[in-house]
Amino acid sequence: MTMGKLIVISSGKGGVGKTTTSVNLSSALAKQGKSVILVDGNLTTPNVGLHLGLTKFPITLNDVLKGEAALTDSIYIHPLGFKLVPGSLSIRSFSEINSRKLKKLLDDLKDMADYVIVDSAAGLGNESISVLKNADEIILVTNPELPAVTDAFKIVTLAKEIGIPVKGVVLNKVRKDNFDLGFRAIESLLETPITSVIQDDKTMREALYRKKPIVHIKPKSDSAKHYHNLAQKVHTGQYQRTIEELEQENRFLRTLLNAFKFR
Ligand SMILES: Nc1ncnc2c1ncn2[C@@H]1O[C@H](COP(=O)(O)OP(=O)(O)OP(=O)(O)O)[C@@H](O)[C@H]1O
Ligand SMILES: [Mg+2]
Repeated sequence: MTMGKLIVISSGKGGVGKTTTSVNLSSALAKQGKSVILVDGNLTTPNVGLHLGLTKFPITLNDVLKGEAALTDSIYIHPLGFKLVPGSLSIRSFSEINSRKLKKLLDDLKDMADYVIVDSAAGLGNESISVLKNADEIILVTNPELPAVTDAFKIVTLAKEIGIPVKGVVLNKVRKDNFDLGFRAIESLLETPITSVIQDDKTMREALYRKKPIVHIKPKSDSAKHYHNLAQKVHTGQYQRTIEELEQENRFLRTLLNAFKFR
């Protein structure tokens, strides 16, 4: 069997939308017929289970890392069609990460699925670095604000040092005012193409309240479409925005240009 691809969802700053991206990407990939294992790699403050309404796991990643349980016993089947390796909500269950054990465990998971999606902790702590080191690809999540983008750049720098490609940026919580950083500025600051643009969306709060990914509760929404699109990009490896997407962004400009065309 060919090995699956391990994608780490990372950010510099906390709260930008990594877990939201991880659960929606996993759900979209599953809906597109791929086998997916979503891993809560946020070892100190795991929250994938919270986003999915599952909190009482008898065996978690933390138990496996401590050598107290077998990996296969920590894999749960989610009704939405993907598998899940949860983290522990107990504050006592995090101990020093054994990097070798983590690598072995993630390698084993890669044998079991097309995609292993790892929701990471924010920033450049030991915990994030040990997870990032195992990535085949990194997807960055950021908000269109200078502090978030500046922190995201630190991940780009680290990724370069450890030789792991940052494939794309999910720009999340984009608003329709003029105070956001522009797309081009973000791409050049991060030296990485923006892959998806997700609006600041009230229904995201509803999704969290209902403990289901937006891909599931609002499948026809723009956000759901963007996550499906992201899943396709992950699958094809073509992370750049398509001509259609760029055109749509430039719709205003195009309308203006068309107005000057001779008919
Ligand atoms: N596009 C969006 N529009 C509105 N709210 C959003 C959006 N994306 C995420 N949120 C909300 O922002 C909060 C933080 O999101 P999330 O938990 O995914 O971030 P995170 O990067 O995983 O945070 P942490 O660093 O703490 O793990 C959540 O309440 C989530 O519902
Ligand atoms: Mg999170």
